[in-house]
Amino acid sequence: MKPTVVKKILDALWYIANTVPLRFKIMGMVIGTAFIIALFTTLQVKRVMMQETMRQLQDVSCSVARELASRAPEYILVNDLFGLTRMMRSAVTNRRDLRYAFIVSSKNEIIAHTFHGGFPEDLLNVRNYPVNKSNGSPLMLNTNEGIVWDCAAPILEGTLGVMRVGVSTKRSMDVIHALLNSMLMTVTAVAICGLFFSAFLTWLLTRPINALLHATRAVRRGDYSIRVKGSSKDEIGELVEAFNDMLRRLAEVERLRKERESLRQEYLRRTIVAQEEERQRIARELHDQLGQTLASLRLDLRLIENAPNKNVMLERIDRLRNTITQEMDAIHDLVLYLRPSVLDDMGLVPAIEHYISDYVSRSGTKVDFIPIGFDSRRLDPLLETSIYRIIQEALTNIVRHSKAKTVTIILEASDQEIRAVVEDDGIGFDKKALHRKSMGLYGMEERARLLRGRLNIRSSPGQGTMIDFVIPVSGNMGVGDES
Ligand SMILES: Nc1ncnc2c1ncn2[C@@H]1O[C@H](COP(=O)(O)OP(=O)(O)OP(=O)(O)O)[C@@H](O)[C@H]1O
Ligand SMILES: [Mg+2]
Repeated sequence: MKPTVVKKILDALWYIANTVPLRFKIMGMVIGTAFIIALFTTLQVKRVMMQETMRQLQDVSCSVARELASRAPEYILVNDLFGLTRMMRSAVTNRRDLRYAFIVSSKNEIIAHTFHGGFPEDLLNVRNYPVNKSNGSPLMLNTNEGIVWDCAAPILEGTLGVMRVGVSTKRSMDVIHALLNSMLMTVTAVAICGLFFSAFLTWLLTRPINALLHATRAVRRGDYSIRVKGSSKDEIGELVEAFNDMLRRLAEVERLRKERESLRQEYLRRTIVAQEEERQRIARELHDQLGQTLASLRLDLRLIENAPNKNVMLERIDRLRNTITQEMDAIHDLVLYLRPSVLDDMGLVPAIEHYISDYVSRSGTKVDFIPIGFDSRRLDPLLETSIYRIIQEALTNIVRHSKAKTVTIILEASDQEIRAVVEDDGIGFDKKALHRKSMGLYGMEERARLLRGRLNIRSSPGQGTMIDFVIPVSGNMGVGDES
């Protein structure tokens, strides 16, 4: 066979071995092992029994030949050939395996034999005569009755001829074959029982594995509610338990992910709505305020143009200047509302101080603001804006909900991170009892998370509220001193 053909056959066998289901592999293993053990045991038993039986029959043939040879002289010497034949026939009758006995004289003539239908001449020629004086070794003859061991023994040291006997192996072979047949039947019966037993064990073994497979497919489709049933306490039982535990955790993670996702979407929606409202407000301001003022300015210019004299003109120019000043103040307020310029101009700490003095202290709450490690240090604008908005939301909540008397804010900057704590002694709240979509708190957490930081809200009814967060500086844009 060419090597490529062998390789193809091996590949095909490997493919089949890999694709058949697990239970067939296990059952194949059991049946294959039972078959190999049965085959080798039977062959070995047969070999040993045959060897031993053949050896025994050889011994028997020679001992019978010697015995008959020792009894033959008393008949030959008195020329009692009839008695000799009768003695030999009675030996053949009494010993069931003894097929024949005959005496060949030193002249190579048959003196007596036990064959009823005439002596078969070819039997005479299977040995060379005369045999030497010692006992002849047994010779194996293949006859139509099966194997016969032929042994020759000299009579009176060969002077009276040779006694030859034939011992058949047929009966012993029949016994051996019957034994092997019954052994094969027993092995087959045991193998069938083993097959059922292994099928049952394989079913026990593969049932949870199939269930695990089914569950894994369900998980791949996104169904985390599925659970695998398993009652065994072995390794597979433990695997099933671990798998179910993993599913429980996955379901919990998925639930949290969905919750967070819906919060994020709600936050986004509200941010877009707020932006839109903001734009509408600015548009309204521009239309109502700036539009009106510009219209009145155009009117004032026409009035100046049509002034009857210089004094009236100067008076009208003065009025125009006042109107322009008022309008500049209004635009300044609008800009301030949109983004506190102090945050851009002076930095985070002055902006928070400004917000506290402007808004929080007006509510009567005492605020201790302790900035540490800032000096004239400036952070990246996005980092400053985010921290400002988080503290602004925390303070707005305190004013709106807490009824606190005192608030402490610690804001600490190091080279690596910004840490802050906002603590009030107000009424506190139960975070778990909150409506899910509380966007202010979520927005604070989200801002911290976007900057790779983390924010904790600790509060309980009657115990005040503490919000702390840490945001790394490195990797969140550069830090520099104000130039
Ligand atoms: N410092 C605080 N003291 C007491 N209760 C607070 C405090 N901060 C928040 N809460 C409670 O938590 C709730 C959620 O706050 P959150 O800022 O998310 O929403 P909100 O302030 O009600 O509305 P907004 O979305 O406009 O901020 C508040 O309604 C309030 O009951
Ligand atoms: Mg709020």
